[in-house]
Amino acid sequence: MPTSDRVTPELDVNFVRSFFPNLNDGWAFFENAGGSYVPKTVIERVTAYMTEMQVQPGGVFESGRRAAEKRDEAQRLVAEMINADEGEVIIGPSTTTNVYVMSHALAPFFEAGDEIIVTNLDHEANSGAWRRLERTGVTVKEWRVNPDSVELEIGDLDALLGERTRLVCFPHCSNVAGGINDVAAITARAHAAGAMVFVDGVAYAPHRAVDVKTLDVDFYAMSFYKVYGPHLAMVYGKRDLLLRCEPQNHFFIGEDRPALRVNAGYPPHESTAALPGIVDYFEAVHSHHFDEPENSLNQRIKRVFSLFAAHEEKISARFLDFLATKPGVRLIGRNNPRAASRAPTFSFLVEGMKSAELPPLAAKNQVAIKNGNFYAYRLMEPLGLDPADGVVRTSMVHYTAMEDVDRLIAALDEIL
Ligand SMILES: Cc1ncc(COP(=O)(O)O)c(C=O)c1O
Repeated sequence: MPTSDRVTPELDVNFVRSFFPNLNDGWAFFENAGGSYVPKTVIERVTAYMTEMQVQPGGVFESGRRAAEKRDEAQRLVAEMINADEGEVIIGPSTTTNVYVMSHALAPFFEAGDEIIVTNLDHEANSGAWRRLERTGVTVKEWRVNPDSVELEIGDLDALLGERTRLVCFPHCSNVAGGINDVAAITARAHAAGAMVFVDGVAYAPHRAVDVKTLDVDFYAMSFYKVYGPHLAMVYGKRDLLLRCEPQNHFFIGEDRPALRVNAGYPPHESTAALPGIVDYFEAVHSHHFDEPENSLNQRIKRVFSLFAAHEEKISARFLDFLATKPGVRLIGRNNPRAASRAPTFSFLVEGMKSAELPPLAAKNQVAIKNGNFYAYRLMEPLGLDPADGVVRTSMVHYTAMEDVDRLIAALDEIL
């Protein structure tokens, strides 16, 4: 039976939670957009690497051979997760660092007078490094959010695109408002104007499956420490574009390794070796819920994310329904729980209160939330906010139980 005809079961939340040791600490955790918890499959892989093969990968001895095998396995699986080819994935320490490196690597694509479009919705990671290219004579234009809807509107992009536009940088999902942008549509617009896209998928990848080929993106960034993995990040780049980049690695690393050639160095080995632990976790979730193995890892991961999306939609609806009962609360972004429309990342403001007042009050009930600008610093201005105080953010993922959402609601109900 084709995948689309099958009924998707409900996510077994107790099953998935049993993988995450941190969930036993008594807190209801709502800072997942800052960094997610890690399943034991990842933790075990870090430990195994450091215990059994902490050597420079390579060589004819057992530990070196196995270390190289683990590194290569990570590179292969990560590529398969997002439907990329192996040589198209650059693994680095963080998205901030990776974008910085790419902003140098893309130098051959820009001449003085060329234009780059950035947004004021992005986390600064996909903004500052591109803006700094102004020093090379590039003109940077800002695609600004509609301050009422806190949305990027495609009509506004059309007005900015021109024949000198070389690159459009934008987020797949806002790490503040949670709204999901139509990456395929925006990318098609940019391509029609002759520009490339650099998409920040950091706030999207923990929630929905990423398929870089279907989206037809040129570059796509995500951080594994928000996708149930170790503190690492990756950038996907289309092979032909990577080959046109200025190498950032040693001169003798050749075109047969297009991603490594553009990477400014190797990421930490033990963390890289732990990346397949994310896949181990997805595999366990898949086989717990589905009888038939899908054809490919990529398809199995898509099935797992469809479980996550359905659960996230339910917890989103519960939380949004609650917020709607509070007239003094202003939700930032979409009041719509649909999985296609948003991730379960909610930011809001409370009339008569500073955002900083809420987290300590919630913490009294062991409910973890945070306030601030979350490095989407430039978004605070159209929202009329002091960046030091910012918004209150509560962010959920698939392992967030409905009971946790009810604890959050009860804690907020005391405050609001
Ligand atoms: C949407 C978004 N982009 C980029 C980043 C930066 O990622 P990193 O910490 O890997 O540099 C973050 C981190 O919070 C983020 O939320």
